[in-house]
Amino acid sequence: PGSGPPDYFLTMRASFAASTVRRIEPSAVAPEHFIKIKLLGKGDVGKVYLVRRKGTNKLYAAKVLSKAEMLKRNKIHRVLTEQEILTACNHPFLVTLYHTFQTSKNVYFVLEYCLGGEFYRALQKRPGRVLREHEARFYVAEVTLALEYLHLNSICYRDLKPENILMHASGHIKLTDFDLSKRAPRRPSFSTGFDGLNPNGNEWAWANGQPDTDAYARDFRTNSFVVGTEEYLAPEVIRGEGHGVAVDWWTLGIFCYELLYGRTPFRSKNRNLTFANILRTDLSFPIAHNPISTTVRHFIRRLLAKSESKRLGAKQGAHEIKTHPWFKSLAWPLLRNMTPPMIP
Ligand code: ADE
Repeated sequence: PGSGPPDYFLTMRASFAASTVRRIEPSAVAPEHFIKIKLLGKGDVGKVYLVRRKGTNKLYAAKVLSKAEMLKRNKIHRVLTEQEILTACNHPFLVTLYHTFQTSKNVYFVLEYCLGGEFYRALQKRPGRVLREHEARFYVAEVTLALEYLHLNSICYRDLKPENILMHASGHIKLTDFDLSKRAPRRPSFSTGFDGLNPNGNEWAWANGQPDTDAYARDFRTNSFVVGTEEYLAPEVIRGEGHGVAVDWWTLGIFCYELLYGRTPFRSKNRNLTFANILRTDLSFPIAHNPISTTVRHFIRRLLAKSESKRLGAKQGAHEIKTHPWFKSLAWPLLRNMTPPMIP
């Protein structure tokens, strides 16, 4: 370090692979256009298969959702949410949706194939299930950019965890599973009839962390029941107070902690004890095998502020995360051209 060219000069291939190219393909796509290769994963209403498109021979991940299961488990709106969000989004660190279609039995999502599979599995192969600090910084940074993009488009992700992060063949990450995400309705005064990307994130009631005084924002602040994954839930979600995009910065803190310490900070024997820890227990850092800087501990502490308004990111969003001293040496615009630490 310190001499020679920075490593992003050596990584044309990775940069090429990670850039987002939304391919325009004929929309009349059907199941018989694909050959099933193998099962990649199972969810509660469907399965994900590795498939090859006939003719082009390109690989995709096809998510097959059973309509009967969707009905039985009351998951229709979740599937629609996922489709709506994936269709609207286009970012190198979000999994790309190429096609959707249906038969009488199933709904199909044809997604970008991520050869490295779940980040979670890659992490498990590491000694102690931990990363070195500079490696963690890389993945936390990529997730930060993905969340920033979602927030600017008024989408709260709400389900960050290593299982929902996929690794592309390039080694860069792709967030997936948007069925728990929440999209803000457009404020009536800004309605332009354009139902796509929000050109200016600040026009939204809640995307910029403004006080919750706007009636439209208040309506939106999700009165939702508890959503997300136990150990990753933010205090305001557990309290059922309604929540805004700051929940995603909380989960980023949990994620960063897990990458460095091999476990989440508030985990306990059962759900109630875990929740009690999240609400009341002060954050502590165990003695770790690898050296862990005070800077990253400060970063995690600021993300895991129990009070939403005091949390890093609560006022100016991702800008506050990106300018934290832990990222001082990081060239944000070049992130997608850098060589990732773990190559699948
Ligand atoms: N598992 C779930 N979705 C996947 C994808 N898009 N690529 C690889 N594995 C997956």
